[in-house]
Amino acid sequence: MSNPSKLHTLQHPLFEQYQLNVQIKRDDLIDPIISGNKWRKLKYNLRHVKKEGFKGIISFGGAYSNHIHALAYACLQNNINTIGIIRGEAHYAHNFTLSKAKKWGMDLHFVDRKTYRQRDSTEYLLHLSQQYPDYFIIPEGGSNTLAIKGVAEISTELNKQTQYDTLIAPVGSAGTISGLITGDKNQHAILGIAVLKQQDYLQKEVYNLLETTGNKSVNNWKILNNYHDGGYAKFSQQSLKKLQDFSAKTGVPFEPIYSGKMILALLDLINTGYFKPHHRIVLLHTGGLQGLGGLIEQNKIKADEWPLPLELQAR
Ligand SMILES: Cc1ncc(COP(=O)(O)O)c(C=O)c1O
Repeated sequence: MSNPSKLHTLQHPLFEQYQLNVQIKRDDLIDPIISGNKWRKLKYNLRHVKKEGFKGIISFGGAYSNHIHALAYACLQNNINTIGIIRGEAHYAHNFTLSKAKKWGMDLHFVDRKTYRQRDSTEYLLHLSQQYPDYFIIPEGGSNTLAIKGVAEISTELNKQTQYDTLIAPVGSAGTISGLITGDKNQHAILGIAVLKQQDYLQKEVYNLLETTGNKSVNNWKILNNYHDGGYAKFSQQSLKKLQDFSAKTGVPFEPIYSGKMILALLDLINTGYFKPHHRIVLLHTGGLQGLGGLIEQNKIKADEWPLPLELQAR
């Protein structure tokens, strides 16, 4: 385990050309399985569940969810029961991600899309808490108030590690960027890269999450909506090539669903003159490399071109 997570400078010809200083905070290296923002988001949730003596945790995710994968393993390590409410059919239990969650002790419950859409509704949550009394319910992606507290620690660490102007992170369910905003206290610009097609939905999610922490007055952040590359978990062959090239030049592995979209956005922003010379950028590597296993399984990427970290290979 590596915490505070490492920060290092990235070398790339484009950064030299535009005289930019780009560093990356390697949250992906905190833990090989509970990697990246998952570790941050789960930290205080797990403590809360243990302290309050809950019987276990219920959470939600898709068939290849990074959150479900990390939660199952973290709960195994902490001796906590888990139930995963999964969108889709029961045979997904054998896939790359869920077979591990199951092996690590998560009880998988498959629901259809219509039921899954109710995952945040009061009635559905009430129904779940009656069905599983004394279980703590964590929303999809792990994004709740306790997650924000964990993610906010990234900003505290960064302030001790370096000086910078802009922090960039991918945005899925908005918990990570809300935590970064909370921890930063208006000291830096924060840029979120939306990984899914949406209008203002994610901005609203951020406001809702910030409200739960009593933090409303921050204005130093922005979510960019035009880098989703076609939608959630979609990407072009050209994007894959660009990302592979970036990994080869910098020596840092990325996956194309989250951190990859952040990288492609960064390259475009630089090429279009978004950053002035000598601007200091920090990228947050949110992990998620287990997602490569699912993409390989679905033939969306090739195993020999996208090596899986060793710890994620064993089934
Ligand atoms: C690897 C990875 N990076 C980034 C994100 C986006 O974080 P958030 O959902 O908190 O916006 C996720 C999803 O939670 C993720 O799995």
